[in-house]
Amino acid sequence: MAKLWGGRFQKSTDKKVDDFNSSIRFDQRMYKQDIKGSIAHASMLAKQGIIPKEDGEKIVTGLKEILADIEAGKIEFEIDAEDIHMNVEKILIERIGEAGKRLHTGRSRNDQVALDLRMYLRDETDQIRQMLIHALQVMVDTASLHTETIMPGYTHLQKAQPVTFAHHLMAYYEMFKRDLSRLDDCKKRMNVMPLGSGALAGTTYPLDREFTAKELGFDAVSQNSLDGVSDRDFVIELASCLSLIMMHLSRFSEELILWSSHEFSFVEMDDAFSTGSSIMPQKKNPDVAELIRGKTGRVYGHLMGLLTTMKGIPLAYNKDMQEDKEPIFDAVDTVKLCLPVFCDMLCTMTVKKDNMLKGSKGGFTNATDVADYLVKKGLPFREAHAVVGRMVFYSIEHGKALDELSLEEFKEFSDIIDEDIYTAISMETCVNDRKIIGGPAKETVQRAIDAAKEYISAL
Ligand code: ARG
Repeated sequence: MAKLWGGRFQKSTDKKVDDFNSSIRFDQRMYKQDIKGSIAHASMLAKQGIIPKEDGEKIVTGLKEILADIEAGKIEFEIDAEDIHMNVEKILIERIGEAGKRLHTGRSRNDQVALDLRMYLRDETDQIRQMLIHALQVMVDTASLHTETIMPGYTHLQKAQPVTFAHHLMAYYEMFKRDLSRLDDCKKRMNVMPLGSGALAGTTYPLDREFTAKELGFDAVSQNSLDGVSDRDFVIELASCLSLIMMHLSRFSEELILWSSHEFSFVEMDDAFSTGSSIMPQKKNPDVAELIRGKTGRVYGHLMGLLTTMKGIPLAYNKDMQEDKEPIFDAVDTVKLCLPVFCDMLCTMTVKKDNMLKGSKGGFTNATDVADYLVKKGLPFREAHAVVGRMVFYSIEHGKALDELSLEEFKEFSDIIDEDIYTAISMETCVNDRKIIGGPAKETVQRAIDAAKEYISAL
């Protein structure tokens, strides 16, 4: 088949090279952006008098028909036509003839592919943004139910101090909120219009770049033609935003996997969000959480792959850059797959409040509060720390929790301890006296939840 660029060639492309070179298999998903971009370009060419008005109109009508036919499944793309850009152009020329041949005036596939990819990822970023907003909502709604659900907080995966499940959820709210702001920030640099960069050195035609940018919803036009065609920072930035989203999902998944184990037994996944074993009848496995944790690896891999693809490419466009699409598309698809299923899994799981409370009581999680009690009675903190350390050692020896020591036993360690120690070191006091901004106290977390609701409704 004759190539659109075939003029200077004497031989046709080797079949293996056609297959090797072609990107239509994976870049056809940008068909809508490619056509929209071409419509804007053709309208601008006609407006500027670079092509005849009637040709501009024919091109626009022809492209709209192609779009409708693609969406109706009536078009089969050809490997020989290499990529989505040349497939669309070739079909257009077949359909409208002469006028179609004027579409590519003042444009190169190099600036065209940069345009399409920016537009495609911009649309995907908007979708992921909505999914993140949903995740924020889920964190807040679930947190609202659990401001009094006391659970152990951990450091080093050793019981540390009691918190609430609401407080834990609101930590993830903060993470997803940062993810959202990172995505918005990334979109600012993505939303720059490269058409007019040509192959690398711009063009002699009097293109109205600002017009095309406005038509296509871009905030700015790129300021250097070499950079316009060779910049893929926006792809890497997005892959990095997506990696962080996955990292957050993966950490929470890991916690849910631990918490559903018999040893923790803090949560139970809904039947609809777990699977059984083909051999062990008793099993109920948190496969969804595990898969999310597992898929995180592939998104990180794509980020690393993209960085590596770009690291040695001289300016401007090089064919290596065709390798940007599969990884970023897969990263986007993976995040779009994981976010909603994670949210549904979280909303449907059972929270075993009693076990969480029981868990918070073991492991001397109120030891800091015993020390703080002594400090409030006048002891310097370092001394109080040492006293309580000895108390903990004694309690381990006698198989007791700190609040199970009698007043006499307490007084053996320090005679400034009175009856009020018991309320001072109850789990409820430990949590609810931590009213400091960012703390787990019921009223503090409630304030955080209220602020979050306001933030989400303003998005
Ligand atoms: N399909 C190519 C890509 O995805 C765009 C074409 C530019 N290629 C070229 N040989 N000028 O990067």
